[in-house]
Amino acid sequence: MKPVKVGVLGLGTVGGGTVNVLKRNAAEIARRAGREIIITRASARDLNRDRICDTQGISLTTDPFEIINDPEIDIVLELIGGTTLAKTLVLKAIAQGKHVVTANKALIALHGNEVFAQASAKGVMIAFEAAVAGGIPIIKAIREGLSGNQIQWLAGIINGTGNFILTEMRDKGRDFADVLAEAQALGYAEADPTFDVEGIDAGHKLTILASIAFGIPLQFDKVYTEGITQITRADVEYAEALGYRIKHLGIARKTAEGIELRVHPTLIPHRRLIANVDGVMNAVLVKGDAVGPTLYYGAGAGAEPTASSVVADVIDVVRAMTGDPENRVPHLAFQADSLADIPILAPEQFRTAYYLRLHAEDKPGVLADVTRILASHQISIEAIIQKEPPAGKSSVPIIMLTQNTLEHELNAAITEIEKLVTVTGKVNRIRLETLG
Ligand code: HSE
Repeated sequence: MKPVKVGVLGLGTVGGGTVNVLKRNAAEIARRAGREIIITRASARDLNRDRICDTQGISLTTDPFEIINDPEIDIVLELIGGTTLAKTLVLKAIAQGKHVVTANKALIALHGNEVFAQASAKGVMIAFEAAVAGGIPIIKAIREGLSGNQIQWLAGIINGTGNFILTEMRDKGRDFADVLAEAQALGYAEADPTFDVEGIDAGHKLTILASIAFGIPLQFDKVYTEGITQITRADVEYAEALGYRIKHLGIARKTAEGIELRVHPTLIPHRRLIANVDGVMNAVLVKGDAVGPTLYYGAGAGAEPTASSVVADVIDVVRAMTGDPENRVPHLAFQADSLADIPILAPEQFRTAYYLRLHAEDKPGVLADVTRILASHQISIEAIIQKEPPAGKSSVPIIMLTQNTLEHELNAAITEIEKLVTVTGKVNRIRLETLG
C-alpha cells in the first residue's frame, strides 16, 4: 500500500516531539497501522530556530497554507495552538478533504461543534487525544473503553503547571511566581500562563471530557472556573492537618437536575490515589455505573508524552481512512444526532462539601453564632478546629468542614457570618470532595 503522507503545522514542543516519535518508531508504527506513515512537509514560523527534532527528509516552509493546499498530504497535524490561525487552517484542511489530528484543547473546546460538523459533512476525521491530559489516552478510554457505562462523574488533575505549583508550594514552601517560571522554562505552561493558574486550560479540557462522557455539545462558556492564586500556605497546612490535600480539579458530574462543570481548588482525602499525583503529572478519575471508579495517570504535558497521543491518533486515522465514514467512532463518543440537551447547572446549584476558614474573637458564644447561622441554612458541620491566636492578635482562626450542601445556601450563610461583629474579614472557602 502507498505510504500515508503527513504534513505538520508547528514544530515547537509538541511538533518536534511528534517528528521524533514518528521517525524513531516508524517500523513499529507501520506494523500497527498497516501502512508506512511519513512526514513529508512541515511548517514553522522561523526556519532558523534550534529544534528538538531532526527535520531531514521533510520539506519545510513558513507558510502553513502550502501544506493545507498540497494534494499529496493525507493528514494534517495542527500543532500550532490558539484559536485564530489554527481554526482557519483546520477548517481549510477539512474543506480540502484532509483528516486532521490536533493537540489544540482551546480550539476543540471553543469551536469543536463547528469543526466536527464540517468534518462530518466532508467525511473526514478530527482526532484530538493530545488535547486532554497529554500522554494519557483518556479520550479513548472514555469514548471507547467505557462506552458500555453511564458515566456518573469524573474528576481530574488536568493541568500539569497548576499541579506542579501546588506541589512545590506544599513540599518546599516555594513561591508561586518562582515555580511558575520553572514550569514555563520546562515548556509545560501555556503561552499565557494565566490559562494555567486561573483554570482556563483545565476548563477547556473539562469541556471536552464532559462532552464525551455525557454526550452533550461542547460548552466551555458554561464551565465555572476558579484558579489557584488565592490558596495560602495556611490553607494547605490546615487541610493537611485534617487529612486532606488541596488539588486543582476539573469536575464534571451528572445529577438529577443537570450537569455540574467546575474547575476549582478542592480538598480531597489524602488517602485517595489521586491526592498523591504530584508535580506536572495528570490523573483523571472516572466513575461509570458498571465499572465503578477507574483512574488514569501519566504525563499531562511535554514533547514526547503529548506526541505519544498525537501519533496514536495518526495511526487510528490511518486504520479508519479507507473504511465507511458512517461507521467511525463518533468525534464526541455519541452519534452526532444523539447529543443531549442536558442543562448545565449554575454555580449556586452545585452540591458539594466545604472547607471554611474565618477569623473570630476568642470569647464565649462566637462559635455558637456561626454554627447557628450554618444550621439555619441546613448546613451540617463535619469537623471544626480552633487554632491559637497568632502572636499579637486577639482573633483566632477557625477552620470548619461542612457536609454536602447547596452552594446557594452556603453563599447565604457566608454573607451572614461575615456580618457578625465578632468575625473579622472574609470567610475563605474551598470546596471539598470525598471522591468516594
Ligand atoms: N499548560 C498545560 C499544562 C499543557 O500545564 O497541563 C498541557 O496541556
